[in-house]
Amino acid sequence: MTDTIKHSWAEPYKIKMVEPVFMTTREHREEAIKAAGYNTFLLKSRDVYIDLLTDSGTSAMSDRQWAGLMLGDEAYAGSRNFYNLEETVSKYYGYKHLVPTHQGRGAEHIISQIMIKQGDVVPGNMYFTTTKLHQEMAGGKFIDIIVDAAHDPNSLYAFKGDVDLDKMQQVIDTYGPERIPYVSIATTVNMAGGQPISLGNLKELRALTHKYGIKIIHDMTRVAENAFMIQQKEEGYQHKSVAEITREICDQTDGATMSAKKDAMVNIGGFLAVNDDEIFDEARNMVVIYEGLHTYGGMAGRDMEALAIGIVESVQDDHIKARVGQVHYLGNKLLEFGVPIVKPVGTHGIFLDAREFLPHVPQDKFPAQALAAELYIDSGVRAMERGVVSAGRNKETGEHNYPKLELVRLTIPRRVYTQAHMDVVAESVAAVFTGRDKIKGLKMVYEPKYLRFFQARFEKV
Ligand code: F0G
Repeated sequence: MTDTIKHSWAEPYKIKMVEPVFMTTREHREEAIKAAGYNTFLLKSRDVYIDLLTDSGTSAMSDRQWAGLMLGDEAYAGSRNFYNLEETVSKYYGYKHLVPTHQGRGAEHIISQIMIKQGDVVPGNMYFTTTKLHQEMAGGKFIDIIVDAAHDPNSLYAFKGDVDLDKMQQVIDTYGPERIPYVSIATTVNMAGGQPISLGNLKELRALTHKYGIKIIHDMTRVAENAFMIQQKEEGYQHKSVAEITREICDQTDGATMSAKKDAMVNIGGFLAVNDDEIFDEARNMVVIYEGLHTYGGMAGRDMEALAIGIVESVQDDHIKARVGQVHYLGNKLLEFGVPIVKPVGTHGIFLDAREFLPHVPQDKFPAQALAAELYIDSGVRAMERGVVSAGRNKETGEHNYPKLELVRLTIPRRVYTQAHMDVVAESVAAVFTGRDKIKGLKMVYEPKYLRFFQARFEKV
């Protein structure tokens, strides 16, 4: 890390091109969110001022990445951009084989279908929506083995992404290692509030699973952010670079799924990477059915080039310090305003604790969904529900899953917004917090079968 700026997270870049956004009135926003069924996913982006729906595919590419687009080799087979990407993945992440996919869930689909059989269980450090669904569709059952602290928004434990090794042992004892195709480990646990796993914990998990011949598949969507938190907070890593720590994390695992739309700052893309030759063989076979030929897997050549460049940029210490620094700037502002958020502040966004924000709205009236709608009405800031709507229904009973965490996620795209934008967001959240008593719950009037949070519709109760 360069030492010239010691006390600031100021950005290591300057702005070369801008994209104007639209300012709207409160009346306009009230109409727009009603028409969208009080679901921020159904708003038109034209009606949004500051878009914190997701950090997925929304980052600003660098001038080098844009230049990379011009080097696209759009051959159907054997594009040179694929080989460049393969080399980059192997150099920075260490995985032996690469299968490109159109985005993260494409890779999740393939690895789940290859490795999971009917009746299997897949332990993991908290679920992610698409990952869990693909595991279930392949016949598996997801079992949460994350530390209890991860479910407590006020716990200050630094590594809330850690696995509870006793819970892991219990799963092994209950089901037997032969029914556990792999452990699903995410770096930067999204649903816990963007919380990191420590390398110490990952190494202990590695030792335990190794004893039983169980593999670890790594959801490496935000691995560089996790590596940065290890550098900042875990004993013994202060003098290692984010790139070195990233590699050390990957080296503890047998394969990975990647949504390159996050850490790697491309607008679309992803991959599956594995060390095992046989799994690779099968994955290469499957990718041609669902994604595209194994040397493009749903991406254009130019996309693979931009991705290879993005991977290199994503692990630069100065970049990641500014990226996480901006998230923490917003988090600290909200803490100063007394707004209840998940603590400690994570790395890809701020998560409002809707239970504490709206204690008068019961969970079956979708408090986080209602809060996200209110925030949009107040200022045109678009956030996302991460609570009971996202958690879906229990596969067996058909009841809502009621997660302990009922959150609204303010996700920060990389290299897109300024400090002034963060101030607007903080002031708007504080204003909504002041008027929180008047906020009412919602009722669901349309519910899709899969991943309902994307398209569900609501009305005010
Ligand atoms: N894993 C994690 C941890 C994710 O956050 C996502 C996507 C995926 C897998 C799936 O990747 O979208 O490329 O298919 N998260 C987005 C989000 C949608 O907003 O958090 P994908």
